[in-house]
Amino acid sequence: MKIAVMGYGTVGSGVVEVFLKNHDSIIKRCGQPELDLKYILDIRDFPDDPNADKFVKDFNVILNDDEVKIVVETMGGLHPAFEFVSSCLKAGKSVVSSNKELVATKGYELLSLAEQNNVNFLFEASVGGGVPIIRPITQCLAANEIDEIAGILNGTTNFILTKMIEESMSFDDALKLAQDNGYAEKDPTADIEGFDACRKICILASLCFGKHVYPDEIHTEGITKITLADVEYVNSYNAVIKLLGRACRVSDSQICAMVSPCIVKSFSQLGNVHDVFNAILVRGDAIGDVVFYGKGAGKLPTASAVVADVIDCAKHANRKKIFGWGDSEPGYIYDYLQMENALYIRASAQDKALALEKAAEQFGEITVLYRRNAPHDEFAFVTDTDKEGVLREKLAKLDMITPLSIIRVTDY
Ligand code: HSE
Repeated sequence: MKIAVMGYGTVGSGVVEVFLKNHDSIIKRCGQPELDLKYILDIRDFPDDPNADKFVKDFNVILNDDEVKIVVETMGGLHPAFEFVSSCLKAGKSVVSSNKELVATKGYELLSLAEQNNVNFLFEASVGGGVPIIRPITQCLAANEIDEIAGILNGTTNFILTKMIEESMSFDDALKLAQDNGYAEKDPTADIEGFDACRKICILASLCFGKHVYPDEIHTEGITKITLADVEYVNSYNAVIKLLGRACRVSDSQICAMVSPCIVKSFSQLGNVHDVFNAILVRGDAIGDVVFYGKGAGKLPTASAVVADVIDCAKHANRKKIFGWGDSEPGYIYDYLQMENALYIRASAQDKALALEKAAEQFGEITVLYRRNAPHDEFAFVTDTDKEGVLREKLAKLDMITPLSIIRVTDY
């Protein structure tokens, strides 16, 4: 049996490296007499690469070679990845992908194609990089009804927030450091605006709750509005700010999902996740809370997950694994403003004492937070838990207050 790798960037070259380095043990684990790398597809030239003889530029060479039974897609982006992956599945080849944009946007279509052609479409590396999460949800936790899933799904933003929290670094300086360290892209929009985390929570929500959740259905906020003032107030609450992707079951026919900065207690399982690490908390009705933690990005950690999927495809060479989800339905995604959480509110008012008094009248119980050297007209507090829409309506009634920052407070 032969495999091909499409896309020789960071992840693709890591896949080739891990596959060749551990080839002997991989063969033993996949139960095939042979499993060899036959092609690497890339439009660029790699004349000095040790695998230079395997490079092709024409996708049809892979598509039309019946020996190639497993194709790895590490190209990234939607096009032509979608067309290439669809063609491979239709041609009876299993596909392994690390491409979260592809899975989040086209997962249902590709899983259906895999089903129709009795092959597998696997994507462990698309969420959490090297952290095992897709297979644990579908296999180890299969006895549970999953009620909720929440995760630090983006390493770059977790690195930036960690620097802001631990070293009082400004957002701009922390972003620059993330870029200098090679974590953030030159254009960091997908990370800092939450789009990357959104794709990942869509994949997890689709898997946990059984219907495709599309990225444009999900309320998404990034971390660009978080300031050191917020970090300091939240610190006085023994808590930290994390960018979380969250999804929960509302009823048998509805779920809620969103991406936003959230406040979590410093010593909670998610509060303790620093730097570029990812962590995903799954709340099941039998297991309770279980947390998966590890490196969510990087060449070899991501390759580790991709190659494990290749082994799984080889093991299931003549069988389709029961794996996937159904299509979405109108009304499936519940309005996030109906979800319950407390809110952290930083605001300004000319008469701070009166403003806090009015806030307490409006919200009931509030917890006032502190920071050093706050401007005389600035204050921050945490409300009680209620539907977010209700809390925002109450805030709008406090016309003597100018809100500066609002962050959700969670119980993770
Ligand atoms: N940019 C992503 C991150 C890479 O920082 O987590 C892995 O998906």
